[in-house]
Amino acid sequence: MIPEYYEFRNSTKILSGTRAIENIPFELTNMKVTRPLVLTNKQLRSLGVADVVIGALEKGLIPAATVYDDVPVDSSVNTVNDVAKAYADSGCDGIVAVGGGSVLDTAKGASIVITHGATDLMQYMGSEVLVGDRMVPFVAVPTTAGTGSEVTSAAVIKDTERHVKMGFVSYNLLPDVAVLDPRMTVGLPPRITAATGMDALCHAVEAFSCRQANPLSDCYARAAIDLIREYLPAVLAKPKVQKNRLAMANAALLAGVSFSNAMVGIVHAIGHACGGVAGVPHGEAMAMLLPHGMTYNLDVVGDRYGELLLHLAGPEAYCAEHPADRGGAAIEAVRALNRMLHDKTGMPLTLSQAGVTEEQLPVIARTAINDGAMAFNPRDAGYDDVLALLRRAF
Ligand SMILES: [Fe+2]
Repeated sequence: MIPEYYEFRNSTKILSGTRAIENIPFELTNMKVTRPLVLTNKQLRSLGVADVVIGALEKGLIPAATVYDDVPVDSSVNTVNDVAKAYADSGCDGIVAVGGGSVLDTAKGASIVITHGATDLMQYMGSEVLVGDRMVPFVAVPTTAGTGSEVTSAAVIKDTERHVKMGFVSYNLLPDVAVLDPRMTVGLPPRITAATGMDALCHAVEAFSCRQANPLSDCYARAAIDLIREYLPAVLAKPKVQKNRLAMANAALLAGVSFSNAMVGIVHAIGHACGGVAGVPHGEAMAMLLPHGMTYNLDVVGDRYGELLLHLAGPEAYCAEHPADRGGAAIEAVRALNRMLHDKTGMPLTLSQAGVTEEQLPVIARTAINDGAMAFNPRDAGYDDVLALLRRAF
């Protein structure tokens, strides 16, 4: 079905392969960058992951002008402002961000502040905050296969004082170059591999069923789910095999392109709130909440979920199911995947297992209904709907 109107954009150049990082200096030269700021975190430095990129820049004769490695697990407004200051103080002319969603989103936030010549990100909250060209050439090197932030026009940054995750959306936040290299993810522990993989799956499922879904975002979502079906179990069985890691990195990227254009819905709205209020890691929240969100939407988009069964469970399972039952079977396929990941990695299956308390549920519900993602969910949801969903997921 073609919607009456839609828009689609992905302008990011993609480098994918076992030695993709070695090509970053060439890309920086093309963008006339001579003094890149490398943005990462302390853990990635101590693991030697960031140093693969830093070394490649040195070899390519465009060494980092400065390395900022103090990005916390949840990117915060203060960090964004601090990075923007470090960029100016060191006379940088581009950012190479090496990290998970938090690092990449910090780079996006900093690029807003730098472009506007400002000092505080809080002045630019909301959508299309970055009007006009971004002044910061930006290479994104993801070190997890999940957020898709390397190809999305969105950034989620935490306001640590209000305990709220804020969304920033603008085409101008799209990175110039995204680099997928299996050396960045090959050492990821099983539970993070599982959680981030489920985040990618959630992006694809929500994008496919959200109000802004369109034929192009559908293609990316289907391709992402096909890869996840095959390679998420494979990467957990053989985590050191680079082919498996590269496939999951591609899956996350495909899902990222899909949801950057079609957006996400209730699962992300509630998941952001679980992160902000109770500190639940994003991917784990996605895994737990996805079947519940799909069940909530089933009456409205059951046919769409039915189409996804082909990709979630494969042709045999799809053909074995009566067309009217395929939507429900798609939800069961997600539940089965969650159970497998729980058994293999100890990932929680319920909010209570994840440390959420019953008293926090009303606060999470109140926060979730104000999340921007809720507007794109195919079925409207109010406070009572969300609280009921949270109780089922508890
Ligand atoms: Fe997500």
